[in-house]
Amino acid sequence: MKKILITGGAGFIGSNFIRYMLKKHKDYKIINLDKLTYAGNLDNLKDIEDSPYYRFIHGDICDVNLVNDIVKNNVDIIINFAAETHVDRSIEDPSEFMRTDFQGVYVLLEAARKYNISKFIQISTDEVYGTAYEGFFKEEDNLKPRNPYSVGKLAGERLAYSYFATHNVPVVITRASNNFGPYQYPEKFIPLFITNALEEKPLPLYGDGSQIRDWIYVIDHCKAIDMLLEKGEVGEVYNIATGNLITNIEIAKRIVNILDISESMIKSVTDRPGHDIRYALDFNKIQRLGWKPSRNFENNFEDTVKWYVDNRSWWKKIKNSKEYKRYYEKQYHEII
Ligand SMILES: NC(=O)c1ccc[n+]([C@@H]2O[C@H](COP(=O)([O-])OP(=O)(O)OC[C@H]3O[C@@H](n4cnc5c(N)ncnc54)[C@H](O)[C@@H]3O)[C@@H](O)[C@H]2O)c1
Repeated sequence: MKKILITGGAGFIGSNFIRYMLKKHKDYKIINLDKLTYAGNLDNLKDIEDSPYYRFIHGDICDVNLVNDIVKNNVDIIINFAAETHVDRSIEDPSEFMRTDFQGVYVLLEAARKYNISKFIQISTDEVYGTAYEGFFKEEDNLKPRNPYSVGKLAGERLAYSYFATHNVPVVITRASNNFGPYQYPEKFIPLFITNALEEKPLPLYGDGSQIRDWIYVIDHCKAIDMLLEKGEVGEVYNIATGNLITNIEIAKRIVNILDISESMIKSVTDRPGHDIRYALDFNKIQRLGWKPSRNFENNFEDTVKWYVDNRSWWKKIKNSKEYKRYYEKQYHEII
């Protein structure tokens, strides 16, 4: 039985990953360390919270004593999902991003070094490359992040790499593209648009919606990380993407069509400052290890919309919170 410490497991990708791993493997014990920031939500894990293979610990990855206490207790693997993740919030106030996305990684790496962890997966992001004006970024390309979130993530992953290079900590770094799927906090583009549509509120599109993203279904991302646990080479970086390059306006129109509402509900709002126009990744390296994205983007997208339709109480609780309302009113005052 291997013990995995998953940090940030009460968030979007982390909770999907924990559920996926518990279903697929019977030889892992999972500890989920999560601070439960506004984005962390134990409702995401309700169905598995009583599993004998799962334990939740409420705490901060920056807490040295707590992290050491957990890791010294026979943890084999660390997968660090914990982060502040919303670009708009990093523009408003980057302080927590610098703390969690850099300092927190440092605390985890020190524990990994001290207690001889057998693998440390640092979940980074495609945003560390900055805008891909043309072509597809390869893992060895220049890194030119353009907002405080992506700079924090870059600092965290390069620190992780330095622990591999200088202390032989067995670090693997992933850079995934934009995820979509169930349990995503509804400040993010896709769940925001779906839930606003269901509430008959306007859908706030940044600028003209011409920004291009590579969209990956969250379960495909989970499968890639699972494979890297076994096959990922230490000291290496892996892009995780699909080639589904789609503009934001197209995504908005898909949602409108699936939910059968009028396109006039899409309202342009002032663009995000420094908004990256295009992200695009070359993901041949991870494909060579045997992973490939599922082909049914359309189905996965429709299933995602349906999940939010069927799970109104999950997102209504979030949207009714003071924190959400404060953020929403400030961010989208133009259309309220
Ligand atoms: N969502 C995407 O499209 C995407 C794409 C590529 C990479 N990533 C990366 O994947 C990871 C997970 O992203 P997500 O979308 O699930 O994020 P999320 O915002 O939904 O969840 C983040 C989780 O981390 C927890 N957390 C924050 N600070 C913490 C701290 N100091 N200590 C412990 N826990 C803390 C939060 O409570 C929350 O549960 C992040 O590292 C992100 O950078 C996300």
